[in-house]
Amino acid sequence: MAKMSIDDLKQIKEKTAKETSLRGGAASIKITVHMGTCGIAAGARDVMNALMDEMAQTDRQDIRVVASGCMGMCSCEPNVTVKKEGEEPIVYQHMTANKMRQVFGRHVLEGEVQTDFALAKM
Ligand code: FES
Repeated sequence: MAKMSIDDLKQIKEKTAKETSLRGGAASIKITVHMGTCGIAAGARDVMNALMDEMAQTDRQDIRVVASGCMGMCSCEPNVTVKKEGEEPIVYQHMTANKMRQVFGRHVLEGEVQTDFALAKM
């Protein structure tokens, strides 16, 4: 086995840090896709897939994506909650892949809450 260089180690560290931030490392923005039974039936998987596509296109290390159970609001599913450090969480309702891309680009990255889709501030 060839010896590893300092650059090799740096690359491994960066890759690991990025993957860890997706799973639960330090993050100032948390995006929760509510994936209970009715959320999934209403299309939460498409929403999560769109979100993961968007995440793959950004180098932001401070964004954490999690899947959780439902919020108890069947009629509003799929729901997504965006929580930025120091701000009230925003719950988005009736999400689709396209709405998720818009929320990610405008709210998560640029800070502009997409009030048309928002169910509530929690
Ligand atoms: S089953 Fe939980 S919100 Fe519908």
